[in-house]
Amino acid sequence: MRTQVGIIGAGPAGLLLAQLLAVRGIDSVVLENRSRDYVQARIRAGILEQGTVDVLTGAGVGERLHREGLRHDGIYLQYPGHRQHLDFPGLCGRSVWAYGQTEVVKDLIGARLAAGQQIEFEISGTALHDLETDRPRVTYADSAGVQQVLECDVVAGCDGFHGPSRPMLPAALQQTWVRDYPFAWLGILADVAPSTDELIYAWHPDGFALHSMRSPSVSRLYLQVDPDERLESWSDDRIWSELQHRMAFEGWQLQTGPITDRSITPMRSFVSAPMRHGRLFLAGDAAHIVPPTGAKGLNLAVADVTVLCEALTELLAHGRAGLADTYSGTALRRVWRATHFSWWMTSMLHASGDDFEAQLQLSQLRYVTSSPSAAQSLAENYTGLPLR
Ligand code: FAD
Ligand code: PHB
Repeated sequence: MRTQVGIIGAGPAGLLLAQLLAVRGIDSVVLENRSRDYVQARIRAGILEQGTVDVLTGAGVGERLHREGLRHDGIYLQYPGHRQHLDFPGLCGRSVWAYGQTEVVKDLIGARLAAGQQIEFEISGTALHDLETDRPRVTYADSAGVQQVLECDVVAGCDGFHGPSRPMLPAALQQTWVRDYPFAWLGILADVAPSTDELIYAWHPDGFALHSMRSPSVSRLYLQVDPDERLESWSDDRIWSELQHRMAFEGWQLQTGPITDRSITPMRSFVSAPMRHGRLFLAGDAAHIVPPTGAKGLNLAVADVTVLCEALTELLAHGRAGLADTYSGTALRRVWRATHFSWWMTSMLHASGDDFEAQLQLSQLRYVTSSPSAAQSLAENYTGLPLR
């Protein structure tokens, strides 16, 4: 098999790259080791920056997003006794949208298959070869177990944190930065109308809590827990009462409902550079991870492939390598801004057990909720800085 761009991974990065390339007439094949049902059901991120919405709309996959997505004009920042709304349009002229990553993935898979373009699900043994030549190859076994070879001009490693692409960078050329945080998030999805109009980010001495949503009838909520916490220790009652306790506010009541999904996710910052080696280009979680407190993971993946698509179009349609050569530097500047913002939000909102730190956090929260310039900085980063 031959294609121009071999894309490894059918997450948001790989699927959107394929869609953006198709709009420009560039051929690609998407290779995914999981099943279609699995990738469409994996509950992850839920907040899209304005720029992400614009890119999806421009790629022709914004129709359902505009119909069903919920525009959010701010967030509430809370600490005991205070719940302050930050008005994003007033602070920075932009908004964000609540629309689940699962829905983005469904829309992208639907568009690609409807256009007769290829996604190979349930492959195994993915291996990359000859990346330093201009004829790289990907070998794998297809869903029937038959060995396949995909010859490409370029390979896009969009295979997430655990995929095989990043390890192909020679160790001597690769630099990584890691920060493991001493906490995790217990996340639930529940069939109950959100108890709030905007997301609530709540600081509490017993740990952070977040109220998010997926639709007018589905809520998404998170609790800070220890990284070694076990899901079995959390009954439905315990989860709901801890959420109510940490988000308590006078005159406000958290509505409860059946929990349909639950998971515990450890929190980590990770950056790997460069994001390109020879004819291999990395995008999304394959190159970097942020803790979810800034709602940046999915948006960074979208920003990476937007820049990468331009670079590959220049390279493959016009034979010009300039943007491919600057891809890694361009993408990493945005990655580090989002890494800083995500670390900052995480540091401001999570209980560490250190009382000195707690006082600094409360001081920072009072500052962000009272100073328009501090609030503007949060709003600008949360809604997403311009692509370049
Ligand atoms: P992924 O979505 O990870 O996609 C990579 C794809 O590559 C996957 O489909 C994988 O199956 C496939 N793949 C892997 N190995 C191979 C192989 N060998 N061959 C073929 N295919 C392969 N962000 C937020 O902002 N908010 C959240 O609440 C949030 N929650 C998260 C919860 C979890 C459990 C995780 C892991 C991430 C979460 N994130 C969250 C981050 C966000 O979801 C990611 O940043 C986003 O999914 C990145 O998209 P991606 O396409 O780069 O990677
Ligand atoms: C979510 O809805 O899953 C979500 C929202 C905001 C975050 C993280 C996750 O900061």
